[in-house]
Amino acid sequence: MKTIFVKDYDEMSKKGYEIIQDVIKTKEQPVISMTTGGSPRGLFKLFVEDINKGLDISNATIMNLDEYMGPKDAVYTVRTFMYENLYNLIDVKPKNIFLVDGTAQDTDKEIARYKGILDKYPRDVQVLGLGTNGHIGANEPGTPFDSTMFLAKHDESTIQSTMREYGIERKNTPTEMLTLGFTEILEAEKVILLVSGKHKAVAVKALLEGEITSDCPATALWNNENTIVIIDEEAASLLEKDHKSL
Ligand code: PGA
Repeated sequence: MKTIFVKDYDEMSKKGYEIIQDVIKTKEQPVISMTTGGSPRGLFKLFVEDINKGLDISNATIMNLDEYMGPKDAVYTVRTFMYENLYNLIDVKPKNIFLVDGTAQDTDKEIARYKGILDKYPRDVQVLGLGTNGHIGANEPGTPFDSTMFLAKHDESTIQSTMREYGIERKNTPTEMLTLGFTEILEAEKVILLVSGKHKAVAVKALLEGEITSDCPATALWNNENTIVIIDEEAASLLEKDHKSL
């Protein structure tokens, strides 16, 4: 795992986006797996601007690593986020758009369907955010490091984050999500973890200065050489040791 320390959210978004841009420009058939939420919003903005200035994504495949269980068009779904922050804002569409179906009645069948897609489209890059409790995707604390795509139950802190992010009441907030496990996350050629803000500082300290343990799920990334964690000053504010910055 490598770290890049940056000043603030905007710089984090820029650094993260540069990696995406490089993949789009250098791979013939780029495959990008995104995350949603507050962390990648800035990166999406830069991506949309570039596409509308002519960046060619017509050979790209874009997918996501998870989806809330709930109605397709609910304000909080990954699908809604992807359309509002990317697909509705660009004229040239990617070659393939894949989304996990959070309305699936038979989740085992949906997992099998999505795993088929993952096998067919090896990912060049997986973008991630960090939960305040250290989760990645919906791999909450306690999830074994050999997890594969599964139906996850959210921790209370994750439910609270979803409520805040989408301005919704608890009774309307999803409690479950279909998510890639650590196994599929780490299959990507590159993994980018975007971390900004004071509310992430405890999780960042556990990630960089704690033990490798499923209590802090993101520590599953520690031994992965292809992971780049981009951390801003506020998120890094509790660190006590010196850490290299790329
Ligand atoms: P955020 O969420 O990007 O909205 O901060 C990250 C996460 O909880 O995975």
